[in-house]
Amino acid sequence: MCGIIGATSSRGVGKILVNGLKKMEYRGYDSAGLVLNQDEAVFQLRTLGKVSNLEELMTKERPKANSGIAHTRWATHGVPSETNAHPHGSNGNIYIVHNGIIENHDELRERLVNEGYEIQSQTDSELIAHLIHFNKEKGKTTLDALIETTKELDGAYSIAVIDTEEKGKIFAAKQKSPLLVGKGIEENFIASDPLAIAGLAESFYLLEDGDFAEITKDEIKIVGSNGEALSREETIIDTSVKEASKDGYKHFMEKEIYEQPQAITNAIEGRTADGEVLDNIFGLGSSEAFKGVKRIQFVACGTSLHAAKTARKWFEELCETPCYIDFASEYRYRNPLVEDDTLFVCISQSGETADTMAALNYAKDEKYLGIVTICNVPTSTMARESDWKIFTNAGPEIGVASTKAFTTQLAALLLLACSISKSKNLNKDKRADAINDLLNTPSLVKESFGLKRHIDEIVEKIADKKNALYLGRGVYFSIAQEGALKFKEITYIHAEAYPAGELKHGPLALVDEMTPVVALAPEDELVEKLLSNLEEVKSRGGTLYIFGNATSKIKIEKGKFMNMPKCGYYNAPIVYTIPLQILAYEVACSIGTDLDQPRNLAKSVTVE
Ligand code: AGP
Repeated sequence: MCGIIGATSSRGVGKILVNGLKKMEYRGYDSAGLVLNQDEAVFQLRTLGKVSNLEELMTKERPKANSGIAHTRWATHGVPSETNAHPHGSNGNIYIVHNGIIENHDELRERLVNEGYEIQSQTDSELIAHLIHFNKEKGKTTLDALIETTKELDGAYSIAVIDTEEKGKIFAAKQKSPLLVGKGIEENFIASDPLAIAGLAESFYLLEDGDFAEITKDEIKIVGSNGEALSREETIIDTSVKEASKDGYKHFMEKEIYEQPQAITNAIEGRTADGEVLDNIFGLGSSEAFKGVKRIQFVACGTSLHAAKTARKWFEELCETPCYIDFASEYRYRNPLVEDDTLFVCISQSGETADTMAALNYAKDEKYLGIVTICNVPTSTMARESDWKIFTNAGPEIGVASTKAFTTQLAALLLLACSISKSKNLNKDKRADAINDLLNTPSLVKESFGLKRHIDEIVEKIADKKNALYLGRGVYFSIAQEGALKFKEITYIHAEAYPAGELKHGPLALVDEMTPVVALAPEDELVEKLLSNLEEVKSRGGTLYIFGNATSKIKIEKGKFMNMPKCGYYNAPIVYTIPLQILAYEVACSIGTDLDQPRNLAKSVTVE
């Protein structure tokens, strides 16, 4: 993944670049660097760790320059280190930053070594700098050398280049990784995300795959692979989102957990009236098109995939439509057989996840009825590339661990199930129940925050353990999976979710007095069966932490029963998510991990 930014201006750009990187740290935060260029002079800084380390060095060095490129990294090839941090240089005059993966790096490395290049880092990205240098040596201009270089690259990339022999210029290339050009006043920019240059660029050019750009402070030139001039639409993007602040909370994740009543309200608002979902909330023509939906194919990753798994039952019940769910990263490699009238649905908080985007691109060439995207970022590529979409309106989610993104995705999925059910004229009464439950969700979520005081009593008992099991049945297995994902990604304690009935087929062997077992026991048709499964845990000395309704008849000698608010059938999965988020958060706080930016992860995963 990684975030890249470049700026060329009549003023100094160092601060602009560092501020831009800070806004893109969600794309990676293991190392950062920049190259500044003034006339023939270059100034390069690279640091291990977060952008704040780079910023600290910058304030000591105070370099001045009118153009530069910068990068915040999430390591793919080569450990996080100063040497592997970008920008990478060749011959002291070509410098590049890269977001993406070069798949044929082994063969390129061998070729370049044979050509006499000394490769400093373990990265695939450094090779791009040497290739540009190599091609320029053959008498090409920098832009042509960049174009020539990309012909040899397999994989995904957005690249920005500085050539010290080309004063005040930045060159760029895009293929399957996001990149846009920002137009300012006497200054121009390139960036992975418009937010990085919010307040600086007045308008944007969204580059397409295969585009190249050459920018100076006064001119933006966009060309294709034959050097032919291309005209890309100049667009205005609303980047005026409120600067993210913790508003007195210790972490963004904590703030985002407690924002959920409002976030869910925003996800629903203006989309229902008089107990019915409104027409065309997924875009013009969607209600008419949904009449023909016979099957649904979902693709997503991580938390977003758990949202699809949770929602499947709603689609089967409200729309009488079978659903297929795939990991986005696996979907296109299984050569899926697409039946007629299948709707393709992508779920993504960021709308930029490379695996989901690749699945969407694959789906475009298949005979799907259409493509729907459920996402939180209106400016995202997925939103642009889909036939229909709905924004979850959760507001910026900064914590790497998704919280409000998940619950608002569930709200949007229930709206989608209701929309298809309405278009197909099915199950009006159930739909009314679903919408009623949806409207009650924010207050139930608020009520569930009261569980924190019970969770506080169990935190220390869990924080010193090495493994945890999460159990649920039916849709609550998907909620258990989401709880386990949350728990492991911020506490670094291994956690695994199982459908409770599956325990006896193997995982029961893991149960001992050192394994906390978290179980979801809502009052539903499977609760009696679940309770029998939990008895099996008790008899093996397991410690049970149960979230359920007081009517669930289980006596716990070891562990704790925590009573959930009385929920509706459709909103219970959303509400049961909340204590699992709080549990993960509080255990991580007690351990002291970096829980807004947990190790090895990034918020937006833009590599395959
Ligand atoms: C979970 O907490 C993570 N944030 C992660 O699993 C995330 O859901 C996944 O990477 C997909 O991201 P997306 O929703 O932006 O596509």
